[in-house]
Formats: sequence, structure tokens, C-alpha cells
Amino acid sequence: MHLIKKEIEIEVYDSELELQIEDQDLLRLARESMENAYAPYSRFLVGCVLLLENNTIVKGSNQENMAYPSGLCAERVAIFYAGANYPGVAVKTMAIVARAKDYTIQNPIVSCGACLQSLTEYEKQYKKPIRTILQGEGGKIWIANKGTQAFMPFQFNVEELKR
Ligand code: THU
Repeated sequence: MHLIKKEIEIEVYDSELELQIEDQDLLRLARESMENAYAPYSRFLVGCVLLLENNTIVKGSNQENMAYPSGLCAERVAIFYAGANYPGVAVKTMAIVARAKDYTIQNPIVSCGACLQSLTEYEKQYKKPIRTILQGEGGKIWIANKGTQAFMPFQFNVEELKR
């Protein structure tokens, strides 16, 4: 028997003011983008902004549907848009924010497993971690410099499926 151990590192900041300007801007853009969420059912709005390696900004927000499972999370709206419109361009940084209409989101919200699975595949494809910045409605900010593996250290990964 042996152990597999993985170390997870997340920087925690108390306020935006501690961040570099570029990261502050990304959080602001994520907030703008969040207002385009279509979330009449959950009343939970998520904004996700990607900064691509060519400095393009891609904005996503959650888009729900009356047929609930047909809706899509903000992260996948953004990453699939980037894949569809900027093929071959890696993502440098991603900022995700959330707001609920009926209560306060005090802490950063970590992406769901389906989004993490999708994001990790782009990281593998481009051999580049997506530096991730998370914040709720305000308050503490989490930064995962080594990408989404901080939130999902193991992924579904079967190389043979690529043949
Ligand atoms: N949602 C996201 O946009 N990202 C996630 O990672 C998890 C959840 C959305 C989906 C749904 O519209 C609402 O938040 C409540 O689950």
C-alpha cells in the first residue's frame, strides 16, 4: 500500500484592494457579466470572465431553462464560447462571482463538478493551468494559481477516448 497525497493551495485575500489591478478588473467584469445571467428559477446569478492568452476577454453567465437540466452554468458558457470562437488560445485567468436574489453569498463559490471537469480538459489541451479567482458578493477572495486542480484534484481522464 502507498498513499497518494495532493497538496492544494489557495490564496485568501480580505478585499479586492489587496489584488493586482488586472485581477480587480477581472472581478469587476465578472460582476458586469453576472447581471446578464438568466436565472429566474434558482434566482442565483453567476458571472464568469476569462482572460485569454491573446488578452481577449470572454464573458459568461448562467443561462437557465424551464426544462431545468437544459440550462448551463456560467463557467461552461464561457469556456465553450472560448473554445468555439478562439480555438488554440489558452486561458490565462478566470474570475467567477455569484449573487443570490434572496440571501447574501458571503463566501466564494466553487464551481460545480461538471464545470471543473470541462475546465480541466481545456487546461490539459493547452498544457496551462487556468489561474482562478473566486468571490461571493464581496468579502474574501480566493485565488488558485495552479488552476482548477485545486478544486478537483482528480478528473475523469481516459486518454484512449481521444483516439
Ligand atoms: N451555477 C453556475 O453557473 N456555476 C456553477 O459552478 C454552479 C451553479 C448556476 C447553475 C444554476 O443556474 C444556478 O447556478 C444554481 O445552481
